[in-house]
Amino acid sequence: MTLTIDPIKGLRGAMRPPSDKSLTHRAYMFAAIAKGDSLVQNPLRGEDCESTLACLAQMGLTFEWLNETTVRIRPAAEWTQPTDHLDCGNSGTTMRLMSGLIASRDLDVTMIGDASLSIRPMKRIAEPLRLMGATVEGDTPPLHIKGSSHLKGIDYQSPVASAQIKSCTLLAGLRAEGETWVTEPSLSRDHTERMLTALGVPLLRDGDKRVGVTGGAEFGGFEFDVPGDISSVAFFMVAAAILPTSRLEIKDLSVNPSRTGIFDVFLEAGIPCILEEEREVLGEPVTDLVVASPFEKKRSFEISGPLVPRLIDEIPVLAVLATQCQGTTVIKDARELRVKESDRIELVADGLRRMGASVETFEDGMAIEGPVKLQGTYIDAHHDHRIAMAFAVAGLAAEGQTTIDGAESIATSFPSFESELRRLTVEG
Ligand code: S3P
Repeated sequence: MTLTIDPIKGLRGAMRPPSDKSLTHRAYMFAAIAKGDSLVQNPLRGEDCESTLACLAQMGLTFEWLNETTVRIRPAAEWTQPTDHLDCGNSGTTMRLMSGLIASRDLDVTMIGDASLSIRPMKRIAEPLRLMGATVEGDTPPLHIKGSSHLKGIDYQSPVASAQIKSCTLLAGLRAEGETWVTEPSLSRDHTERMLTALGVPLLRDGDKRVGVTGGAEFGGFEFDVPGDISSVAFFMVAAAILPTSRLEIKDLSVNPSRTGIFDVFLEAGIPCILEEEREVLGEPVTDLVVASPFEKKRSFEISGPLVPRLIDEIPVLAVLATQCQGTTVIKDARELRVKESDRIELVADGLRRMGASVETFEDGMAIEGPVKLQGTYIDAHHDHRIAMAFAVAGLAAEGQTTIDGAESIATSFPSFESELRRLTVEG
């Protein structure tokens, strides 16, 4: 599918962002292992999360939509051996977190994915699961797991700050013998830990980079109203920041500190962002906020070190922001971008150059010169939703028309992206 973007003057109005993808995946997976029924309100109806629900249903979970926004989930009393492979579609979170659930049960499962997922690294989760006693074959999908209900707890040093590795290992640890610990080089998103704590499962802690669980913990069914996704609303936040007449009110946004690196960048760049008082849902802080076009020139910024995992999915659109900021923006320590739904360093740099920006790439990041008047062009998003949306935002601020191929991928995380954009547009 091709998306055509014409320049506009701004975005104005109020929006409730799509629900958080990471939280929806976890709500479904936690509901699948709860003792009792759960009600999930406002889950993300994107393709990635639907893959998670469909895979869980193949192993005995049942669900019923009570209305358009609420699903009741009944866990299987005993997980059943699926009769077919599990198709995780484009979703790395589905495959990696689900692996932890499967590895700790007497199941023999093959997981597959689409062309993009089929070349993404799985050794990173295979390694801790093998150490725990599961049999895992396939360093890239298809991933074949022969699980066991007699896993042993491990003390695992993760080589990368990845919430997917951490969550996979902790989920397996919930059914392993003894304690399972994960240490990461810097803190990745901590939704799994917060959800466990909110559900009454004692979390073991040793500083903020080392967490653990004790095998055998159980919890009951729960209710969870999934708040908005900062990684999705980031596209609208950056659009508001680079278009001259914008004022966006954003409602019910999840502002977990392990995900809010974009606020640090906006502060450094001089973009106004006013946050209301926070409230809490199932251990997750939630707020409303306002983002507006700045009066002053925007300043370049640096993304490196522990900031990287706090905004890893926002980097493509923050690179677009960098083209509109005064000076050189440097992004480093972000090698992980090369193994996301696409090689996001190469695709971002290539697309921005085609639009007239000056970009240098490194193995772990890039340097971007600004400000530059972008020129509309043809972009191939390589079926990566965040690349498609980042270049749609670039197109809004460019001269002439931008066409984006591979835009059907947007449905994985933000099905209403185009209609929301049209609804909030201030015409040029
Ligand atoms: C996710 C964690 C991140 C992120 C992905 C979702 C999660 O991946 O990029 O979109 O839900 O745990 P890593 O943890 O591998 O960095």
